[in-house]
Amino acid sequence: MSLSEKFKKHLAQTSPYPIQLEVKRAKGSWIYSTDKKYLDFTAGIAVNNLGHGHPKLVKAVQEQAAQYMHVMPYGEYIFSPQVALADKLQSLLPKELNSAYLVNSGTEANEAAMKLAKRITGRPNFGACLGSYHGNTQGSLSLSGNENKKYAFRPLIPGVRFLRFGNFQDLDLIDESLAGMIIEPIQGDAGVRIPSKEYLQALREKCSQTGTLLIFDEIQTGMGRTGKLFAFEHYGVVPDILTVGKAFGGGLPLAGMISSEENTRHFTFNPVLGHITTFGGNPVACSAGLAQLEVFEDEGILEQIEEKADLLATLLSEHPKVRDFRHKGFMMAMELKNAEEVQVLVEKTREKGLLVFWFLSSPHCFRIQPPLNLSIEEVKIGASIILEALDELG
Ligand SMILES: Cc1ncc(COP(=O)(O)O)c(C=O)c1O
Repeated sequence: MSLSEKFKKHLAQTSPYPIQLEVKRAKGSWIYSTDKKYLDFTAGIAVNNLGHGHPKLVKAVQEQAAQYMHVMPYGEYIFSPQVALADKLQSLLPKELNSAYLVNSGTEANEAAMKLAKRITGRPNFGACLGSYHGNTQGSLSLSGNENKKYAFRPLIPGVRFLRFGNFQDLDLIDESLAGMIIEPIQGDAGVRIPSKEYLQALREKCSQTGTLLIFDEIQTGMGRTGKLFAFEHYGVVPDILTVGKAFGGGLPLAGMISSEENTRHFTFNPVLGHITTFGGNPVACSAGLAQLEVFEDEGILEQIEEKADLLATLLSEHPKVRDFRHKGFMMAMELKNAEEVQVLVEKTREKGLLVFWFLSSPHCFRIQPPLNLSIEEVKIGASIILEALDELG
């Protein structure tokens, strides 16, 4: 059996048409396959924010793996990489966000946030936004706004109210029955939807008035993707609970739910061990996450994003085939006439050696999310491939 046949037969498939690009190695902004190299404008779907194989991340992983890997489930023993990461994080976050519960994936971080909000408020319901994506477990799926991905799995968690993203009137749906209101400060899977500052500030006010915990899902927007370490920094709004994931572990599985120490203490009583995970906060993943934050500072990564992202946006957005181009930093969506054009474009760019990717909820758009530290030269190479593919759409 060929590798491809084994892949299809022995690995459960989630799509009838997997891309099947065989990865041999990846370095910097490039992925090397058997016979070709690709410029990676997906960054593993907003995970490889420092590109592939950054030497300082590799060194941190190797050194920690040599010391110890898994020793005990989360929260019993002291692992210095966990403590160092949490300590670094709290130095970068507002003082209200000084206690992190570490998990393995974004969906788990949102599950933890739901449980914490219920536990603190004693309330049953949640608010969420249409178009949102918060994960694929039963709880986080219940909070997600794409009905197409949910209908087959009902019943889901009851008591979720959906608000139109960015709509001031719908803020009236937030009341004293809601434990939490979850929102991506910039919606990702909906095709990079960027709200106004006034909207997020009004949302913050409404949540404070009603005692509803405001949960910012920064699983995709976090770790520099939008040009700041966290997107909430653009808006002057601090959530009660922040969830992070994707790039948080520098390419290894790591996510977190962050709140105040006063809030997270609720997991310690009634019941004790109110939340448990075996692998959450794995020491090797924490070492990579910490090394990534150090590289952000040492190499001035965040400071360079705006110039490069604006260049890419300028090069791409004027093409007549482009209906809309939305971006905040390197969180980018290009909108075309329809899903068919997007399909052709994604395939054409791949043939030409550039990787971009679809959204689940907005098929007439595609995502552009390169590593944050790509070079100006790589920005220009990627732009010229996309422009060439746009020209060929006819
Ligand atoms: C905004 C947002 N929340 C949650 C998730 C779920 O994260 P994970 O796939 O790690 O469970 C994602 C993943 O794409 C996401 O983009």
